[in-house]
Amino acid sequence: MHPLPLRIMHWANAIAMVIMIGSGWKIYNDEVIFGFLHFPQAIVLGIWAQHGLQWHFFGMWILVINGLAYLAYGIATGRFARLFFPIRPREVAQEMIAALTFRLKHADLTHYNAVQKLLYVGVIAIVVVQVASGLAIWKPVQFSGLLALFGGFQAARLVHFLGMAAIAGFMVVHVALALLVPRTILAMLTGGPRVPAPEQAADGAPAPKPLH
Ligand code: HEM
Repeated sequence: MHPLPLRIMHWANAIAMVIMIGSGWKIYNDEVIFGFLHFPQAIVLGIWAQHGLQWHFFGMWILVINGLAYLAYGIATGRFARLFFPIRPREVAQEMIAALTFRLKHADLTHYNAVQKLLYVGVIAIVVVQVASGLAIWKPVQFSGLLALFGGFQAARLVHFLGMAAIAGFMVVHVALALLVPRTILAMLTGGPRVPAPEQAADGAPAPKPLH
């Protein structure tokens, strides 16, 4: 279900995200957007703002290189097409209600439900925008076109902040749901149930069935 490269990329991403969010909070504290919001020193990464920036750039390389590898892998192996699509609004609505009333089942680990598909595709899209808005505020002169696309420096900063909030929100829900079905965490560590290799699932063939 989760081949080794996928598992390595998933956990590398989780570590990079913790570094990016923790150090981002430290940088934010130096020049806040919302006067009422400061992140306590106990939960930020970095002793002073410049130190936080260094952590942020360190995490950035892991996030971007790993993220590009994950996108290339997901597209080239057909994993995205097989596991994330199609996303049907009707199923999302039905499964959202089931999830909110704690009736959503996750017996078959080899298939993601519609809510999962939407969340995974959504968080991947948000991370892409997050990297773009980060580039725009890191190099506003070199990426002036990108900066203009966001509506200027302060608007790009706000997008970057809201992207962080969305990713942090995703992480809370994602980890809580994973803890509710601990088998999924084990599968993300050990690989999970065996499924036919992607090349066996030719175009148009029925979705692969787990072998056990
Ligand atoms: C912000 C950080 C994270 C992001 C963006 C993220 C994103 C994702 C994505 C996109 C998938 C689907 C992967 C695929 O099939 O190609 C996934 C699966 C999964 N993630 Fe994360 N993840 C993050 C952190 C974590 C953490 C900290 C945990 C620890 C509990 C975790 C546990 C899992 C598990 C168990 C699955 C498989 C779910 C299943 O089989 O139903 N993730 N994650």
